Amino acid sequence: MKSTITVIDNLTDKKYEFNILNATRGPSVVDISSFYTQTGMFTFDVGYTSTASCKSDITFIDGQKGELRYRGIEIEELANNHSYLETCYLLLNSELPTLLQSKKFDLELRHRSFLHDGLRDLFKAFPSGSHPMATLSAATAALSTFHFNHLNMSDDKEYQVMAHRIIAKMPTIAAFAYRHSIGATFIEPDIDRSFTENFLYMIRAYPGGKMHRDLEGERVIKDIEIQALDTIFTLHADHEQNASTTTVRNVASTGAHPYVAISAGISALWGRAHGGANESVIKQLEMIGSVDKVDEFIARAKDSNDEFRLMGFGHRVYKNFDPRARVLKGLQDKLKDELNLDSNLMKIANKIEEIALSDEYFIKRKLYPNIDFYSGVILTALQIPTSMFTPIFVIGRTVGWITQWIEFKKDKSAKIARPRQLYLGK
Ligand code: CMC
Repeated sequence: MKSTITVIDNLTDKKYEFNILNATRGPSVVDISSFYTQTGMFTFDVGYTSTASCKSDITFIDGQKGELRYRGIEIEELANNHSYLETCYLLLNSELPTLLQSKKFDLELRHRSFLHDGLRDLFKAFPSGSHPMATLSAATAALSTFHFNHLNMSDDKEYQVMAHRIIAKMPTIAAFAYRHSIGATFIEPDIDRSFTENFLYMIRAYPGGKMHRDLEGERVIKDIEIQALDTIFTLHADHEQNASTTTVRNVASTGAHPYVAISAGISALWGRAHGGANESVIKQLEMIGSVDKVDEFIARAKDSNDEFRLMGFGHRVYKNFDPRARVLKGLQDKLKDELNLDSNLMKIANKIEEIALSDEYFIKRKLYPNIDFYSGVILTALQIPTSMFTPIFVIGRTVGWITQWIEFKKDKSAKIARPRQLYLGK
């Protein structure tokens, strides 16, 4: 039996045959690369709802089951039993590190976390008050001017250096972008601190690296805070061919520098339909203000004449639940007492969740809370400023983008991304 699909043109009765390519997990795909040469027509799929744009063995999502795996390992296992850096290693190397590999990777990243002085100066060019996402995107593109050796990369070692450098520097760039936005002196990375602790340190510390003091003494960074943020980074590490990753791959397809591709990915992520939703969720919860206003906003979300949407709800792929959201909800419950989660915001969030999960409108459209619905309340408890929520997503996702970039570069069958259109003009 041939693994093909036949398309019949009902006007001419002509038949066209296309190969089916089987996946190791999830749906098979129809190879329509010869569709135009065979039929003289294009396929039409706005928003790529039925289109697989590449072959990949990095991340798998089953949206019906609510399943997410990196290199075959379930996200729950990684979030509960492995660190973010171990997850980065897994994504880049297809296997989890040994203890020694893990230590070496951690040390290498600590040493690579510093920025060139020239790049530091760039931040000054931006107006104070600029959103950290804009600065982050610009500074990441600028990093390519300091490491312009992507065109002749030939072996895996060079790809790994390119990857380790950007993963290590992203928290520093993000922290500097934030400090510039509030007019605060930059805090250099501290080599004695782990990846995730270092980021909190660079955000929170006072000049000279001193931490905030109150009547009880120095406010040190708690282990539970580091673990919570580390889990958030892990949950964001990769997510298959989403809008920003597709942007990174599209830029990669032209032969551009990987850091420029990642800068484009950062810009794509910023929108509130994508990574920018985490900032919007908290703003929305604050705008709603109290539990008794929730019904009013749910009604607005359901009104097709109102542009208002419930931020943190719905997903193109997950139609049952978002497994990342489930991990975060568990984390939120765990942190409730220890980190003093904002009880008013949580009450409003719980009420929205309760109504939405039992309301016909949301059930019919399979709209469930996504990762961004829960991350905001936790990030607020970690004293992360709202404008840094999406940069946190960027820090976590950088490994995914660079891993996908490497996969693209190594794929001999990869082509420049060049879709066509249904022309309706004159
Ligand atoms: N609130 C109210 N209605 C919604 C929502 C929402 N958040 N999301 C979708 N709908 C409705 C939409 O109006 C449409 O209704 P109808 O069929 O009557 O026209 C239906 O559900 C399908 O929506 P869609 O826009 O066609 O779905 P999509 O797959 O193109 O969009 C989405 C997915 C995530 C962009 C969208 O659900 C949304 O805008 N959600 C809010 C923003 C958000 O939370 N984004 C974060 C996504 S998770 C993080 C990440 O990985 O990026």
